[in-house]
Amino acid sequence: MGKKKTIVCRCEDLTLEDVENAIDTGYTDLEELRKKLRIGMGPCQGRVCFQLVQKILEKKTGKKVPIKSLPKVRPPIIPVSLGTLASDEK
Ligand code: FES
Repeated sequence: MGKKKTIVCRCEDLTLEDVENAIDTGYTDLEELRKKLRIGMGPCQGRVCFQLVQKILEKKTGKKVPIKSLPKVRPPIIPVSLGTLASDEK
């Protein structure tokens, strides 16, 4: 039986060990971690993992990490129907 892994980000298949290793190598900013590990870039857009990673970062560094850097939802500029998205028409 293998070693148990604690999944932090299900969308990007990131473990607690991945996040802690990145922090140990100097990625101590939430935005840097996000870019390096793709945290919050999966289908849920970080709703599941982002605050968890924030807490891990705070615990490892002993510093408060501001919540202002939560990823924002970026809707289409104009409304697009699902039919249009699903069609082959250009
Ligand atoms: S769980 Fe991390 S982006 Fe969805």
